[in-house]
Amino acid sequence: MCDNFSQQVEQAADWIRSAERLSAMTGAGVSAESGVPTFRGAGGLWEGRRAEEMATPEAFRADPACVWRFYNMRRDRLLQCAPNAAHQALAEIEKDRTDFCLITQNVDGLHRAAGSRNVVELHGDIWIDRCGVCDYAERVTEVSQAPIPRCPKCDGMMRPGVVWFGETLPPDAIDAAQTAAAQCAVMLVIGTSSMVQPAASLAMVAQHHGAKVIEINPESTPLTADANLVIAEKAGTAMAAIAKALSQPE
Ligand code: OAD
Repeated sequence: MCDNFSQQVEQAADWIRSAERLSAMTGAGVSAESGVPTFRGAGGLWEGRRAEEMATPEAFRADPACVWRFYNMRRDRLLQCAPNAAHQALAEIEKDRTDFCLITQNVDGLHRAAGSRNVVELHGDIWIDRCGVCDYAERVTEVSQAPIPRCPKCDGMMRPGVVWFGETLPPDAIDAAQTAAAQCAVMLVIGTSSMVQPAASLAMVAQHHGAKVIEINPESTPLTADANLVIAEKAGTAMAAIAKALSQPE
């Protein structure tokens, strides 16, 4: 393992350059420098409750207006956020490759806003409203004024288009993520606590199939000991440096 930042960046860039297929898995930490609070860090509390308590079907059944207030607060905040250097570096790296799959646990849409194209959103998209009764779904761009938006088709209660704890992930998304993990030669794991399954296990799937796993996170996680390279830096700093190294002639 190299312990100096520029050596780590060079090592990561070397592996990425020679990788036939590249994947990245991102979590809330990749959006932290855009001002989006992480789930398990400071600022993860809302009205004194843990964000995870709001993200369940039980919470929605018990008090849908409360869950909508939580998501409206998050949408409000996101309207003031823009992609940061890490989102931009990932979009930049994708421009030069045809084999890059970006798997994200984030629902904030900032990867797409930065220009990433092949994005698998494992936990859905906060800017989708979908009916809890019928199959109606729509993309929204503003925070709804209604305490609980209603379905224009069946008048059922709408809910945010995100995956809640206890729900299954969209089958297409998990299939695409598993394939990308199994086929890549390098997987970047950026800004995730690697605590929520099945996302957390994808790095192990990749490594099991022979991939090098590069973790970028200022804090250590359950993945750190197994990663082939750990860059204990902020995502924006590390990814901008890696994208720069990749853009220079070898
Ligand atoms: P967490 O809040 O669990 O973890 C965020 C990680 O980002 C931590 O390990 C931080 O150390 C790291 N971090 C913070 N700032 C960073 C920075 N500037 N650069 C790099 N890393 C940084 O978020 P996730 O792992 O994404 O699920 O959480 C996974 C899932 O749990 C979420 O998708 C959400 C949540 O509950 C659902 O809502 C289903």
